[in-house]
Amino acid sequence: MILTVATSPFDDQKPGTSGLRKKVPHFKQPHYAENFLQSIFDVAERDAGATLVIGGDGRFFNREVIQIAIRMAAANGFGRVVVGQDGILSTPAASNLIRKRKAAGGIVLSASHNPGGPDGDFGIKYNIANGGPAPEAITEATYQRSRALAEYRISDAPAPDLSILGETMIEAMVVEVVDPVADYAELMQTLFDFDKIAAMIAGGFRLEFDAMHAVTGPYGKAIIEGLLGAPAGTVVNGIPLEDFGGGHPDPNAVYAADLIAKLMDEDGPDFGAASDGDGDRNLIVGKGIVVSPSDSLAILAANAHLAPGYAKGIAGIARSMPTSQAADRVAAKRGLPLFETPTGWKFFGNLLDAGKVTICGEESAGTGSDHVREKDGLWAVLLWLNVVAERGESVKAIVESHWSEFGRTFYQRHDYEEIDSKAAAGLIGSLRDRLASMSGQRFGTLVVSEADDFSYKDPIDGSISTGQGVRILFSGGSRIVYRLSGTGTKGATLRVYIERYEPDSTRHNVAPQEALAELIDTADVIGEIKKRTGRSEPDVIT
Ligand code: G1P
Ligand code: ZN
Repeated sequence: MILTVATSPFDDQKPGTSGLRKKVPHFKQPHYAENFLQSIFDVAERDAGATLVIGGDGRFFNREVIQIAIRMAAANGFGRVVVGQDGILSTPAASNLIRKRKAAGGIVLSASHNPGGPDGDFGIKYNIANGGPAPEAITEATYQRSRALAEYRISDAPAPDLSILGETMIEAMVVEVVDPVADYAELMQTLFDFDKIAAMIAGGFRLEFDAMHAVTGPYGKAIIEGLLGAPAGTVVNGIPLEDFGGGHPDPNAVYAADLIAKLMDEDGPDFGAASDGDGDRNLIVGKGIVVSPSDSLAILAANAHLAPGYAKGIAGIARSMPTSQAADRVAAKRGLPLFETPTGWKFFGNLLDAGKVTICGEESAGTGSDHVREKDGLWAVLLWLNVVAERGESVKAIVESHWSEFGRTFYQRHDYEEIDSKAAAGLIGSLRDRLASMSGQRFGTLVVSEADDFSYKDPIDGSISTGQGVRILFSGGSRIVYRLSGTGTKGATLRVYIERYEPDSTRHNVAPQEALAELIDTADVIGEIKKRTGRSEPDVIT
């Protein structure tokens, strides 16, 4: 039977950079998840009997909300839900299934790289029919709907068993439980030269993939150890756990320190990689070198044609505004269009749909292509492996030859986490107030050439997004960007992005901290970070 349940609206269900994210106890409030799901169903366009894809990264509370989402979908006119076995789907695999099954959309339950568990984070994200995150017009409409919601609809049928593959019914809706890996693995085989990579591994190339106890464990095992024949044990932390083993499933230098340490050892593996909670981020480490995500985007764009799926070349590159301009150098040299978008994968969707770009990326360890409409961690790993196999060079050699061809863009992001929200707003507000008078100002050897608050007009649908981050540009191409995170769940997180271009290859062998020293000091002078936040050091540098 379909029940209509009376509820009252919550005022804080505004989706951020990537869906609605809150702490688990917050999500557990009566009706909280139901209200947000009903707001999505009220706003999402679809035909009667449409298909909905549902899955999540397996974190704590995933199982409960999946069951609620299925029972609500049955009460909201869907004809079929396609759900990953045990409720598991990586974000890119969900995107692929939405496209492949011509679904009206998908619900992805994840808080990405944020920690999980009873006191950890949880999130709900809605993806549209192209497989990508809902654009701002939809997330805003969902938010407005949530503020006026008076009831939601849910079937009282017992929760379906998601451990068994196959079809069952709830009300008039088919519940189809699918293998979360199979379709995704099939897609990867159409893009990359699996035989060549497998031959490289059989020939002694050693690799390690850290799934961080998150969703990519089963994907890594099936693809890297299964299809590519890497020895058992190549995938570490490969069993998804509800609390990610107490860790932080964020593949960066802090949380993937063990993997990086192995790769810095002469006797260690040749290649290391890791992915995050929901499988859309990637970390690439070669022997003796951690590849920065901005460099990885530029290098993959420059070499993608070496993989069969991109042999015809790429149409263009898109990067989020704070991502370094290394990719711009590739675009300029290869005569490709380059698009600079606001932070968040949702801004790439229209460009990919229109065929304007093939490869996209963000400095936050996200890279992807037009094969799905999400960033894709394992895709990046496989493309790197394909490039390494094709070039027959080490990761380090490939990175260094890229720098000597295109110049090196030194880059760092400094995060100040859980700072006072008012102080954070004050810092950004003060920067905005000073923008008009900034141009021409001198800080040490640096001269401001331009300063603005980034806004973006989508070239396809003409929609405008303002207030996307304060950019201070200096003559010579150096840059400092300040923005507040849209994914945090406590206080505010200030992100400061710092970069400097160095064309001279005799000066490439310097640590970023050193190459960026003057800009780092200047970021504090201009942003008044210490004064306004009381913090003398960032919490995380990536
Ligand atoms: C962060 C990253 C951004 C990414 C998003 C979702 O958002 O900076 O690039 O798209 O997570 O993975 P932020 O917290 O900065 O708003
Ligand atoms: Zn993620």
